[in-house]
Amino acid sequence: MQENNNNKKWWKEAIVYQIYPRSFKDTNGDGIGDLKGIISELDYIQSLGIDIVWLNPINTSPNDDNGYDISDYENIMEEFGTMEDFDLLLKGLHERKIKLIMDLVVNHTSDEHKWFIESRKSRDNPYRNYYHWWPAEKGKPPFRKSFFDVNGQAWEYDAVTDSYYLHYFSVKQPDLNWENPKVRQEIFNMMKFWIHKGIDGFRMDVITFISKDTTFPEIPNAELMEKYGSWTNYYARGPRLHKYLKEINKEVLSKYDVMSVAEGAGIKRVDALKFVDEDMKKLNMLYHFDGTNLGYLPGQYKQMDPKGYSLVAFKKIYSNWDKKVAKKGWGTIYLGNHDQPRMVSRWGNDAPEYRNASSKLLTTFLLTMRGTPYYYAGDEIGMKNIKFDTIDDYRDIETLNMYEKIKSENGDLEYFLEGQKISARDNGRTPFQWDDTNNAGFTSGTPWLAINPDYKTVNVAHEETDPDSVLNYFRRMVRLRKSLPELVYGSYKLIDKNNPNVYAYTRILNDQKVLIILNFSNQQMPFRVPVSAGSVTDVLLNNLPDYKARNNVYHLQPWQALIVRLG
Ligand code: GLC
Ligand code: CA
Repeated sequence: MQENNNNKKWWKEAIVYQIYPRSFKDTNGDGIGDLKGIISELDYIQSLGIDIVWLNPINTSPNDDNGYDISDYENIMEEFGTMEDFDLLLKGLHERKIKLIMDLVVNHTSDEHKWFIESRKSRDNPYRNYYHWWPAEKGKPPFRKSFFDVNGQAWEYDAVTDSYYLHYFSVKQPDLNWENPKVRQEIFNMMKFWIHKGIDGFRMDVITFISKDTTFPEIPNAELMEKYGSWTNYYARGPRLHKYLKEINKEVLSKYDVMSVAEGAGIKRVDALKFVDEDMKKLNMLYHFDGTNLGYLPGQYKQMDPKGYSLVAFKKIYSNWDKKVAKKGWGTIYLGNHDQPRMVSRWGNDAPEYRNASSKLLTTFLLTMRGTPYYYAGDEIGMKNIKFDTIDDYRDIETLNMYEKIKSENGDLEYFLEGQKISARDNGRTPFQWDDTNNAGFTSGTPWLAINPDYKTVNVAHEETDPDSVLNYFRRMVRLRKSLPELVYGSYKLIDKNNPNVYAYTRILNDQKVLIILNFSNQQMPFRVPVSAGSVTDVLLNNLPDYKARNNVYHLQPWQALIVRLG
């Protein structure tokens, strides 16, 4: 039976292209990408054929966490430019029929936000309840974990008022108190400010963490882990989360034709529809972490299992998530972003002989699944992990503070650094590679984060001249998705689910049927098209120069990706 999710929406048909502004293009030589840099590359962005640009935070920020610590929601970070630049960027995108979504970071602000500056002044300050405070006379607050703190502690003592404040992330990212209706009103007004400027939606940063049980009960560790699996899951289950999401929808989102996508930290698949079922009137989409968490060793800090990841498990995760939103709601697909390593290094093979083919294969996967693809800038040219050798090369607070924490606990720093070569977020943040001139054409100054030395050969200018480049393959794949409605709205069916090397599936809409065959391995692999699937009438896309087939059996080369039409 076909399960077609046919309720059409522009954001279901769109391909999202994520730009990390700090690393995209620098125009004033300070080594930091800026809005003018994005403006100068609008024609490039348009040439990709994508529909929506998602910008990581560009608001005023002291940059403790690269913009995820906002000190003024209605202004632009000085390093990135001015509101005038922003208006020009938005206009330039809209002229090219590209929409813009912004990062909405409202679980926390910067400690330099005026609300927090006021809040910490005195216990009776009008802004006191904008944040979570624990008076010291009540004793030490019950333990909460911080993801970025050097001690892992989410409560920070503040002597001014003899109280602790809560910060799930760094000490410079105090959590907002959503239980206070005034806070919610401020946020809704701010969202409207940007919508009235003309933006087309929001990517909602750790939105699942906004509600807290403000009695902050003791959490007996063992029980907690039993019950919730992890801190992320616990934080994502605040008592009034769904009330607030409904309110965001009612007060803001429902009034405009804008899209919303949650960073789905801590969301379990069984709960997905509570967030994205359209009848619930909350959000349009969420992106889960089941896929990107696969392959790490349990109980360790982002350490990759030396055996790699299981393709069977990978297929199961994406297939189960597809099923969850097959009739209601809508899915998303991504393999990389600013919090992840480069997709070719993590999910493909970045060795010279496989890099191009596996980059193209992963692009094929992203653009042939059901669900809106979130494609990370740089992946279209096959950028790979930089794999820093020393801690001094890193800039990311997550890596730096985790290093300090392990050091203070006399932990194994070498093991940690080896692991970071695969998993660190800075791998996905190195500057964009435009050409083979100094600093990859990214900056005339000193880049804020080292540039991958492979830019001499892996760069846009070079790939523009090669019809078979990763870049030109991406463009072809985008055009194919746009030309075949079955790739957007068609049903998805996994084939040969226990095959450990080949990921194959059909996408079917009415009488249109395509089959996608992906060899996720370094070996040649036979793949038999099941008779029940139909017979191949046409090869629509191939990431290698040719293919071998006899009868219904394809002899796939390492990392070969084929899209065929079935009759
Ligand atoms: C999200 C962002 C990440 C940031 C964190 C805290 O996970 O994607 O970059 O560090 O939230 O705001
Ligand atoms: Ca700059």
